[in-house]
Amino acid sequence: MISESARAKLNLALHVRARRPDGYHELETLFAFVEFGDEVRVSEAEETALFLSGPFGSRLTLSESNLVSHAHREFARTFGDTGPLRIELVKNIPIAAGMGGGSADAAAVLHALARRLGLAPDDARLFELADRIGSDVPACLLGRTAIGRGRGEQLEPIDGAAGTPVLLVNPGVEVSTREVFARWGGIDLGPLPEGPLEAIIRDGRNDLEPPARAIAPVIDEVLAMLAAQPGVVLARMSGSGATCFALFESVEARDAAAGAMRPEWWTVATALI
Ligand code: C5P
Repeated sequence: MISESARAKLNLALHVRARRPDGYHELETLFAFVEFGDEVRVSEAEETALFLSGPFGSRLTLSESNLVSHAHREFARTFGDTGPLRIELVKNIPIAAGMGGGSADAAAVLHALARRLGLAPDDARLFELADRIGSDVPACLLGRTAIGRGRGEQLEPIDGAAGTPVLLVNPGVEVSTREVFARWGGIDLGPLPEGPLEAIIRDGRNDLEPPARAIAPVIDEVLAMLAAQPGVVLARMSGSGATCFALFESVEARDAAAGAMRPEWWTVATALI
């Protein structure tokens, strides 16, 4: 059995620069990953089958679980038949939450299958496959802090911020990525800031916050509550929402803030990797 972690993705900043003729948007984003995530387990079996478990396993939409099967199929198309496999997905990341859960799962499947074949994890063919599966899948395959351009697939790794305490808060509203992008205001508010990681984080924005807040106004409340916590460095929405994150000066400040959130909200205390 091969087990791979599928870490949750955050967009520490997400600048939408333009609509593209292909229906996608031109982005400049700062991807980062946290310790918390899903887990994918792959083992040989008599028949290919997908098993779902974990707190969000039963809530998985067909299209999210399809990303796992899609990754398996795409891998086999490039590298040859894998034989029948049992793939188990332990789904800890909320669905349609702006943390790239489905993309991280797809990347973890690619990692697991690559490991079975003895392929290097940085094999360029894996990144081509990832790009075909979804815009965030190459970043999840890389699995480290990086600036993403284009649809998010052109990646430039950047150092720093590992170990920063993070609080993730999701108010339990699922928002559609496609719908949030469709409601983007169409005005380019400028590139990612230049400079060290801290400056990019501090001076960056998430341009999908206004459209996501229009769909799910509770995001305002989450952001305001996070921003008001002692020891908070920054509170921002991730991806297309509705999950928001806050970076903290210390583990103690993060854990105190976790205790101050509304009990009905999904809250996880973790750290950047
Ligand atoms: O690439 P992926 O299938 O994950 O994207 C989901 C949706 O998000 C797309 O159909 C598109 O509506 C939107 N999207 C976008 N621009 C991007 C990435 C995603 O408009 N750069």
